[in-house]
Formats: sequence, C-alpha cells, structure tokens
Amino acid sequence: MAARTLHALLSFLLLFLSSPAIAQQPYVDNRQLDCLNHNYDNITNGFTCNGPSSCRSYLTFWSQPPYNTATSISTLLNASATEIQSLNNLTTVSSTIPTRQLIIIPINCSCSNAGFYQHNATYTLSGVREETYFSVANDTYQALSTCQAMMSQNRYGERNLVAGLDLLVPLRCACPTEKQTAAGFRYLLTYLVAMGDSVSVIAEMFRSSSEAVTEANELKTSNIFYFTPILVPLRTEPTRIVISPSPPPPPPPPVSPPPQTPPESSSSHKWVFVGVGIGVGLLLIILAIFFFCFYKRRSKSEQINKLSDSSTKHSLPTTTTEWSNDVSNSTDTFGVKSAIESLTVYRFHELQSATSNFSDDNRIKGSVYRATINGDDAAVKVIKGDVSSSEINLLKKLNHSNIIRLSGFCIRQGTSYLVYEYSENGSVSDWIHTTEKKKTLSWKQRVEIARDIAEALDYLHNYITPPHIHKNLESNNVLLDSNFRAKISNFGVARILDEGDLDFQLTRHVEGTQGYLAPEYVENGVITPKLDVFAFGVVVLELLSGKEAVTKQKKEDNKEEEVEMLCKVINNVVEGENVREKLKAFMDPSLGNEYPLELAYTMAQLAKSCVATDLNSRPSVAQVLTTLLMIVSSSIDWEPSDDLLHSGSLAN
Ligand SMILES: *[C@@H]1O[C@H](CO)[C@@H](O)[C@H](O)[C@H]1NC(C)=O
Ligand SMILES: *[C@@H]1O[C@H](CO)[C@@H](O)[C@H](O)[C@H]1NC(C)=O
Ligand SMILES: *[C@@H]1O[C@H](CO)[C@@H](O)[C@H](O)[C@H]1NC(C)=O
Ligand SMILES: *[C@@H]1O[C@H](CO)[C@@H](O)[C@H](O)[C@H]1NC(C)=O
Ligand SMILES: *[C@@H]1O[C@H](CO)[C@@H](O)[C@H](O)[C@H]1NC(C)=O
Ligand SMILES: *[C@@H]1O[C@H](CO)[C@@H](O)[C@H](O)[C@H]1NC(C)=O
Repeated sequence: MAARTLHALLSFLLLFLSSPAIAQQPYVDNRQLDCLNHNYDNITNGFTCNGPSSCRSYLTFWSQPPYNTATSISTLLNASATEIQSLNNLTTVSSTIPTRQLIIIPINCSCSNAGFYQHNATYTLSGVREETYFSVANDTYQALSTCQAMMSQNRYGERNLVAGLDLLVPLRCACPTEKQTAAGFRYLLTYLVAMGDSVSVIAEMFRSSSEAVTEANELKTSNIFYFTPILVPLRTEPTRIVISPSPPPPPPPPVSPPPQTPPESSSSHKWVFVGVGIGVGLLLIILAIFFFCFYKRRSKSEQINKLSDSSTKHSLPTTTTEWSNDVSNSTDTFGVKSAIESLTVYRFHELQSATSNFSDDNRIKGSVYRATINGDDAAVKVIKGDVSSSEINLLKKLNHSNIIRLSGFCIRQGTSYLVYEYSENGSVSDWIHTTEKKKTLSWKQRVEIARDIAEALDYLHNYITPPHIHKNLESNNVLLDSNFRAKISNFGVARILDEGDLDFQLTRHVEGTQGYLAPEYVENGVITPKLDVFAFGVVVLELLSGKEAVTKQKKEDNKEEEVEMLCKVINNVVEGENVREKLKAFMDPSLGNEYPLELAYTMAQLAKSCVATDLNSRPSVAQVLTTLLMIVSSSIDWEPSDDLLHSGSLAN
C-alpha cells in the first residue's frame, strides 16, 4: 500500500520534472562507465558543436590533494592560475585550498576537428599507481573527461600506458546554443554531480533554474548519476554567483599520493553509480517506509538472532561507552545500534592483537586480515569510511550454511572492522584463475560450488522476509571453507526486494562489477532478482572455462583493445555446428578430460540461459537450483569412485 502511494508520487514527480527534449546537449547518462562501447561515441566523446566555434566556459573541480592549489589545478586543467585565484577568492596561487571545496575554473572552449566542444589539457602519467584511461578521466579529472573521448584522441592502447607518457585529455565543455543565448544564458558551466545532488540542488547552487538544467542536458527523467558531468546554463559570470554555503559532500578522495588500503577486490573494476534527483521529500518517504518495514520485521529477526546467539558469544569484554562515542561520528547509526544485540562488539586493541597489528603477514587479500580470536580463526575486513550498517544488519539475521557468517565488529574513528567466519580455502576466483598447477578444482567440486551458490541465492530470494538481492555476486565474493563448501560474502550492496515497484528500484544506490552486471541494470538501473541470476550465470561460466568474467586482448591489426565478456562468448559455444568441439575448447584446460561432456553441456546451457539479455527469459533461482541438483547427482554417478579427499588432484 505504501509502495503504491510511492509509485503514484514518483510517477507524478517524473511527469512534473521532465520536459520535452529540445536539442541541446544529451546527458552522458552513465555511458562514460562503458569504456569499450562505441555506440554512443556521439555522446561520450563530447558535446556536439552546435553553436559558436569557441567561447568562454567554466569547469568545476573539487579540491583534492595533490590538486589543492590554484597552481596545481591550473596545470592539471590547462587554465590560468591567476584567474582561478581571483575567481575563487584565494589568497595566493599557492595557498592550500581545503579538501573538497568546489573550485570554478574559467577556460576557453572550442570545437575540435571531430566536431566536439572541448578544452584540451595534457596529463603526464605519473607511475605512482596503475593508471587507465578510465582512472585518469574519472578519478584524476573527476569525470570532466571520459575514457571514450580519451581513447579516441590518444594513440596508445590501454596496455601501453606507462609512466612519463603525455596524454591529451579532452575536457567536456560547451557553448550556449542560439536558443540558450536568446533565453539570456551566456555561459555553460560543466559541473560534476556529487552525492546527494539533484537537478534542483544544482540549479540552486549556481542560481540557474531546474528547467534550464533539464533542457540543457536533454534530461528525460530526473535521474542523474554521480561522477557524471552536467551542464549548468548561467546568465552571468560565476564571479557574481554565491555558491550555496553547504554544498553536498563529494565522494571520498580519489587520489591521495600515499597508497590507501587497497580496495577489497583490487582486480575487479567497481562500477558505482547512483541515481539522484527525486526530491528530498521522496527520500524521506522512502526512509520512513524502510524504517517501518524494519520495525515490523525486527521481532522476527531477533528470534533468529537468539538461535544463533550461542555461537556468536565470545568471552571478550565489550564496552558500551567507548562504542557509543565511536558511533556518534558515523552518519548512519541507526542500523548499527540495533546490530549490537546479537553480535560481539570488539575493542580495537583486541583486533589489533588478533591480527598482529594488521600486519602484512596477516593480510589475506586487499583489506581483509586473518585473525586468531580465542584460538579460532576469523577474517577481519577493514572498511574505511562509514560502516555499511545494511551489511551488518543483513548478515546478522541470515542463517544459512552457504552464506558467510558475521560474528562481530568494531568501529573506531570512522573505520569499521567486520569479523567474519574464516574460509580456509580463499575465494573461488583464487582457485580458477590461477596458474598454479596444484590449485585446481575437480568437476565435482565445481558443480557443488555452483549448487551451493544457488542454494544461498534461493534462500535470499525466497526464504527470508523481506527477500533480498545480493547484487554483487562474483567469483571473488564466493569463499571456500576447508571442505570446499561455498559461502557467499560481501553483502555491502545487497538490498531489500520491494516487489512490484520497479520505479522505486531505479532510484536507489547500486554497485557492481563489470562483466557480472545484467544489461537492463547497466542501461536502466532495473533491479530484480534476475540480476543475481545473471551474475550467477557468469560465475558458472568461470567455473566451466576457468576464464575471467572479462578478458582484454589486443587486436592483431590495430592497436585497439578487444574486450571479451564470458556472458557473450557462451552464445557461440553452444550454438551452431561442432558444439562438442567448441565446448571442449571452451572448458578449463586444467580439468583435462576429467569431466562428463554431456553434463558440461547441460551446465553450459543453464549458464547461457542465466545470462540471457532479456531478463524474462532467464530462469528463476529456484529453477536453476533444480537443474543443478540433477547435475550434481549425475556427476556422482559418472564418477562413482570419486573421493573428496583426492578429487583436488585429479587434473595433475
Ligand atoms: C547517437 O548515436 C545513437 C546510436 O547510433 C543514436 O541512437 C542517437 O540518437 C545518437 N544521438 C545523437 C544526439 O545524435
Ligand atoms: C582564452 O582566449 C582569450 C581570447 O579569446 C585569451 O585572451 C586567453 O588567454 C585564453 N585563455 C587561455 C587560458 O588560453
Ligand atoms: C574573500 O576573501 C576575503 C579575505 O580573504 C574575505 O574578507 C571576503 O569576505 C571573501 N569574499 C567572498 C565573497 O567570499
Ligand atoms: C584540441 O585537440 C584536438 C585534437 O584531438 C584538436 O582537434 C583541437 O583543435 C584542439 N584544440 C585546441 C584549442 O588546440
Ligand atoms: C591549452 O589550451 C589552449 C586553448 O585554451 C590550447 O591552445 C593549448 O594547446 C592547450 N595546451 C595543452 C598543453 O593542451
Ligand atoms: C569515479 O571516481 C570517484 C571519485 O574518485 C570514485 O569514488 C568512483 O568509485 C569512481 N568510479 C568508478 C566506476 O571507479
């Protein structure tokens, strides 16, 4: 009922906010994330030259070390330091600007030979960290450029990016069209959408209007994504604009020279995007509904907690005072407080000694450390910034042998430490994407892993209230215990499934990994359980082939890179002629001939149906599970002498 009201309200808001598209400049709409997709070059490469061939224009930049003086920003963006200084009321060109302050940069914008408006800057690859076209465009240049535009204007393939190389960085800018000029707009400012922004907030910030911003970007809905550039038409020079005193906090620092704690899955390329734009009122309603649902379900989850309480109790002491002090710094304390009841709250020094002071020797991977607590092994995940209270809240009530168990946590000075059960055998990707000969999984282990994952997803989708979507399933997030039973982990972005209300699902925070994301989600932000089915299909393809979800290869003829997605490759394998031969070639070489080809074919067909482009032709997790149980039992028949203890060395 609440959802229906919400739906009505949302439809009304969408109707109200959208205005007919009038050819100005199309919004990138998150296509800048899809570096290898050239279908939208006309949009990702820059704004089309549809006005004067050059003009004065403005960029915005969030001050960020090492780019936190007028001089350093001017070098980065090829602008004038003194102009930046005077426009932003800075004391000198070298005075330090507080981090995350919004700086306005005047530049000259002109048409390139290819017919796009741009301002050229040059960036020298530093070699301090690994850089890609995407990281330069998104992180260093704060999405003022796109990977597509950089790739089309630089000759070097992504693999040839080495320290010292100079790259041309075409910065997105535009000149007012005749229509805008007639309406009194003299400049277009390129603004980087930050967390919490909406069209109206941005318009207000620069004393423009929501209608002008909507029209200038040809926005068809009120959804805008953060880390995307958006044009703001201005009637006057921004010198006379007073930027709203409390701009929304931008994302955490993208570039800080000392290496930070590496992200949890360093190899995977995280796609983060958020739809913003529904008014504050709507957000409040969503929050209210969320709280309402939570309380309704709370008594239920507490019962589950009591059941698992005995296993989560540790003899370690806890201090509530220290805890509440720490929590008061967190912006999202609601979920955390309610989590206290069933989880152990550790003191920081306890975790320090359990992990030998977070030493490198104890590091498992990324920011996950091995700990010894009361003689038991545990894994401690360190999360910088705000604790993902939703992950804590969700995990504490899940009780399934194929889902990693959270036993406790600690929050200190804005950093969260989550304590999980330990998985002796690491992640599935450690086993299938390795060149180590000894590390290989047998056929039976692979099908059992697939079944375990399906069991866990079935539980999430169909057996808990409210149902949840994991949303970030990948072989990195599937862990293996000492018996090679799979457990899914990383519930940081999992979310409640609100049935039958797609619009509502479009506007919430989402996250995932390239190669595992279903097309309807990437393109339209649609969130359904079929998202997990898609990702599951990709993991099964990895289990079959031993290949990564995404592999990049250089083309022979030109210097461009070719990307190969497992979810695309499979269609060729199981269709057309010579399916047997093609399937044999597709299978993981480390399996040798130790697998039943017929069952492998059934499994490949299953995976193929899971990664279907049309979400309606994907099976449900329950259907997937049925097929897998059949495959598992037939695999046992195929290899009657199979012994779990020896199966790991079958391929040697
Ligand atoms: C850009 O190209 C796509 C695909 O070729 C097309 O559908 C779209 O209309 C074009 N957009 C503009 C603004 O030209
Ligand atoms: C921009 O162009 C004007 C003349 O059109 C010129 O005086 C100014 O130096 C240019 N600015 C930069 C940063 O190149
Ligand atoms: C500019 O800075 C000076 C001192 O540095 C301050 O007195 C003045 O109020 C500032 N002006 C604006 C518009 O912020
Ligand atoms: C910027 O670089 C492009 C080449 O990618 C070129 O066409 C354009 O003329 C350059 N603009 C200026 C102002 O130099
Ligand atoms: C800096 O911008 C000017 C146009 O304002 C352009 O002519 C020049 O080539 C750019 N310099 C670099 C290093 O890209
Ligand atoms: C883009 O940059 C922002 C800010 O540095 C970062 O938080 C975000 O994760 C980046 N996006 C992707 C897809 O890596």
